[in-house]
Amino acid sequence: MRIMTVCLGNICRSPAAEAVLIHELEKAGMDHVSVTSAGTAPWHVGNRPHEMTIEEGQGRGYTFSTVGIQFLPELFDEADLVLAMDSTNEQDILELARTSQDAAKVVRLGAFASDAAEGVRDVPDPYNGPREGYTTMYDQIEDAVAGLVRALREDSLERVLAEHRTG
Ligand code: 4NP
Repeated sequence: MRIMTVCLGNICRSPAAEAVLIHELEKAGMDHVSVTSAGTAPWHVGNRPHEMTIEEGQGRGYTFSTVGIQFLPELFDEADLVLAMDSTNEQDILELARTSQDAAKVVRLGAFASDAAEGVRDVPDPYNGPREGYTTMYDQIEDAVAGLVRALREDSLERVLAEHRTG
């Protein structure tokens, strides 16, 4: 199983989600799942994650080795599950889908959150905002990643996708 987290710039939300997922999957001993990240925009290709993404993440025990890449249609071949951070990301990614099989891989990370039954929430973009935005971002990502790891363990991924994907 290959997971790709995707946001706009690939320096805040998707590298944070990637780091949290890698950490939690390792803790759960789920070494058959790999994680990468990308951004729909080309602006930060080759860049390390934003310093506040790294600072806040390291404080929570996460490590970062990723550099920015742009999400392009070919990357659908490298992922079984494409996790968008917000509805705009989701639509941008779906526009790049070549087939219905590509589109079927896409869902927002919030579909796995503990409050998803009340409606899937976006992970807001914290870029250019205060440190608190990064704290909230990690709180939201950690909650959703716990749900995703549970879904993988319980083999309920398809049920969540069927309920929440828009493509
Ligand atoms: P991200 O946040 O999509 O969570 O990585 C952003 C990072 C950079 C920009 C926008 C959003 N930017 O405009 O450069």
